[in-house]
Amino acid sequence: MGKLIVANWKMYLTASASVKLAQRIVKTKAKSQVVLCPSFVALADVAEVIEKSKIKLGAQDIFCCDARGAYTGEIGLDDLKELGVEYVLVGHSERRRYFKESDELVNQKLKVVLKNRIRPILCVGEPLKVRQAKKEKSYIRAQIKAGLKGVTKKDLKRVVIAYEPIWAISGNKGHADKPDDAAKMHAHIRKTANTPILYGGSVNSKNAKSFLQAPGIDGLLIGKASTKFSELSKICSQQS
Ligand code: PGA
Repeated sequence: MGKLIVANWKMYLTASASVKLAQRIVKTKAKSQVVLCPSFVALADVAEVIEKSKIKLGAQDIFCCDARGAYTGEIGLDDLKELGVEYVLVGHSERRRYFKESDELVNQKLKVVLKNRIRPILCVGEPLKVRQAKKEKSYIRAQIKAGLKGVTKKDLKRVVIAYEPIWAISGNKGHADKPDDAAKMHAHIRKTANTPILYGGSVNSKNAKSFLQAPGIDGLLIGKASTKFSELSKICSQQS
């Protein structure tokens, strides 16, 4: 797999703004595999825009069970499959923090995604206190072990891990990790799970290249900067 650039539009953009941005992105020449993750309400329209392009569709979350039925407010895997979703973020730190998603729930979601032959992007990352106490390695290892509990070796091949230190995320007024430090963490993660590993946290057009060139960084998960055409197009067209 080449480098993977995943744009997590979070709740930054309305559906119409998502469509407009996707329309501009399909016209750019990307040197990496680009995945757009708009909000649920924008998925169908963005799917139409990118249909004939090489860009892939991702979702930001998923219901935890492989069942349809009386689950008010939820979005099931079948809904995503119908729209051509190929990637699903699970366990983003904002889901863990604001919606109290536990490691167990994240693991359940990840397994539902795998069962449906879609690729989960398991998000992990330590809070600032853990980093300050220099306990980030064991913290991340435990998060990955819990997130991947019960996943077979065969299924592991379809998992992508995104390392996003919580203190580095722009929405938390964070600042990007140092590419060298992120690369060290990626090497550590790889000892637990040998999967593609993305870096996320305040990535922008200025620092993207240094992350993409760091050893063992297979791509980027980008939030805020990915909602701006000038930023995302520059990042996608960079030669890594
Ligand atoms: P950011 O978000 O690029 O805005 O820091 C990354 C993420 O949370 O996925």
